[in-house]
Amino acid sequence: MFEILSNKRVGPKIYHLVLSYEQLPQNPEPGQFFNIKVAKKSSSDPLLRRPFSLFDFDEADKKIEFVYRVVGRGTEILSESKTGEKLDVLGPLGNPFSLKDRKGLVHLIGGGMGIAPLYYLSKKLRNSIQKVFLGAGTYEELEFFSKKFKGLDLDVHLAAMEEKLEIKGSALVLWLNYLQQETPNFVYSCGPEKMLAAVEKECLKNNIGGELSVEKRMGCGIGVCLSCSCQSKNEENKNKRACVEGPVFGMGEVVIGE
Ligand SMILES: Cc1cc2nc3c(=O)[nH]c(=O)nc-3n(C[C@H](O)[C@H](O)[C@H](O)COP(=O)(O)OP(=O)(O)OC[C@H]3O[C@@H](n4cnc5c(N)ncnc54)[C@H](O)[C@@H]3O)c2cc1C
Ligand code: FES
Repeated sequence: MFEILSNKRVGPKIYHLVLSYEQLPQNPEPGQFFNIKVAKKSSSDPLLRRPFSLFDFDEADKKIEFVYRVVGRGTEILSESKTGEKLDVLGPLGNPFSLKDRKGLVHLIGGGMGIAPLYYLSKKLRNSIQKVFLGAGTYEELEFFSKKFKGLDLDVHLAAMEEKLEIKGSALVLWLNYLQQETPNFVYSCGPEKMLAAVEKECLKNNIGGELSVEKRMGCGIGVCLSCSCQSKNEENKNKRACVEGPVFGMGEVVIGE
């Protein structure tokens, strides 16, 4: 069982959930996710667990953190959960971002709640020079993330549909501007599928390696129901499950945004 240490609102409909745990099957890695049972103890509605990316992990204090947006019934129930309540959480699940020997200039591009999995990744990418590109509808949606990334002393760039930021537009538009000036050694991205498809296209065109985390709708989260299938680009007629072979895929590995 996991206990809620805090579950605070940090933006419009955005919550920061901090849980303590007694034991995990293994330490989670950046890009992995946890499947949380959001239904209250006495209820089985909603039946399905909800997947959330690991935002941060602290082994010494035995804490895992998430940032989520309230979009429907499950996240609404979760947002009403209070400090001290217990949660049924399954994980870590899925294929993480690769970190091995990642050196040189690395670009991280996050759109909306797709920013969440990039923070713990950033903390683990110690041997790289990182540039972070974050986008959302408004600055209020970015504020919490921006402070966290800046707290790591990183070069952070922000975009929203507001005049007051570096660019009025998406994280993609912001990143494309920088891509004209410099070529990163590697790109990590998570966000809306259209954004991921455009990031992938640019990376493949410019021969830049990278990885994308896709947020498919999930049923079981453990590879059984096949509701999260993604079509493989390389192996004909072979599908890959976002919950097992993903959610992190290499550039050009699966069909994205169609
Ligand atoms: C691997 C993975 C990691 C995720 N990490 C995060 C995270 O860190 N923070 C976060 O806020 N969200 C994350 N999500 C999305 C999150 O799981 C959903 O928002 C949540 O399950 C919605 O539950 P609900 O009951 O509130 O909404 P529902 O009532 O089930 O749906 C409400 C609306 O949200 C849409 N929706 C639901 N799930 C998804 C999805 N997976 N992708 C796109 N649209 C969806 C539905 O189409 C519907 O319009 C992640 C999803 C996956 C697959
Ligand atoms: S969610 Fe069931 S197989 Fe992936």
